[in-house]
Amino acid sequence: MRVIDTVTELRAALDAERAAGRAVGLVPTMGALHEGHLSLVRRAVAECDVVCATVFVNPLQFGPHEDFDAYPRDLDTDAALAAGAGAALLFAPLTAEMFPAEPCTTVHVAGVSEGMEGASRPGHFDGVATIVTKLFAIAGPCRAYFGEKDFQQLAVVRQLVRDLSLPVDVVGCPTVRDVDGLALSSRNAYLTAEQRQSALVLHRALCAGAAAVAAGETDPATVAELMASIVAAEPEVQLDYAEAVDPRTLRRPAALDGEVRLLVAARVGTTRLIDNLGARTPGAAPNHDHHHPEQGATVPAARTDHQESH
Ligand code: PAJ
Repeated sequence: MRVIDTVTELRAALDAERAAGRAVGLVPTMGALHEGHLSLVRRAVAECDVVCATVFVNPLQFGPHEDFDAYPRDLDTDAALAAGAGAALLFAPLTAEMFPAEPCTTVHVAGVSEGMEGASRPGHFDGVATIVTKLFAIAGPCRAYFGEKDFQQLAVVRQLVRDLSLPVDVVGCPTVRDVDGLALSSRNAYLTAEQRQSALVLHRALCAGAAAVAAGETDPATVAELMASIVAAEPEVQLDYAEAVDPRTLRRPAALDGEVRLLVAARVGTTRLIDNLGARTPGAAPNHDHHHPEQGATVPAARTDHQESH
């Protein structure tokens, strides 16, 4: 695997691959790679001829009181993991390479960015949309792999690609979890053993919400309150939001009908965690439009959600 740290070199390398007729897969990350990230790399390797993972802790998407400085950074380990999963290239630029001067341009995606994470983390999705647009501009035409773990981010990226006609096929991939249900996240590294145990309540709440939807509950507020009450019963965990939304608009509908996305965010100690799960009302026909079979990305001591994206 070749590690590249300049924009010019990455552009030249990927242009050369395309000129040779090879399809490029791109996997943007902030590093601290785990099986969730690696499932995206493996999926990209299975579907593309050459895969480039990127590692850049993007300062634009962190709020002033968030964990930009504390965010785990270990490029040597990340490089070994990305290579092991089959990436041919790793783009790991310094901040000064990506932003030699303070950028004056912001990509803002209205609509899907506004509730939930957008409401709790002002400016976060502007930072994500801006860096993802920049990575796409550097990488050029490609398939780009994103996790459903960050469901709202995936919707923001799909929207910006549509609106700006970017030459990118966005591929959403299911969430990888530990066997106990905890969604893998670089931020799980901040948790003590007890906090990690408490954090399991997020997945429990989502599963209870999905069961209520599957059993015929159609009021999104009732499902949201059920999930909130389960999280509230865990003393170490402070709920930020629990929502039941339409997976396309990310808005709470008047009544749940067909595909539903359940999302929760909570603080465990000082660590903020998010998770989400697909659900379906009884009798609703599965949506096959964007249906992919479950990926073979499951690893020992981990499991992968069924693909339930819209
Ligand atoms: P990061 O949090 O490092 O995540 C990189 C990619 O891995 C995202 O697409 C995310 O959804 C996916 N991912 C994380 N945990 C996952 C899990 N348990 N299962 C499946 N996929 C998982 O998301 C970002 O970085 C940044 O916002 C980025 C898009 C790179 C822009 O800076």
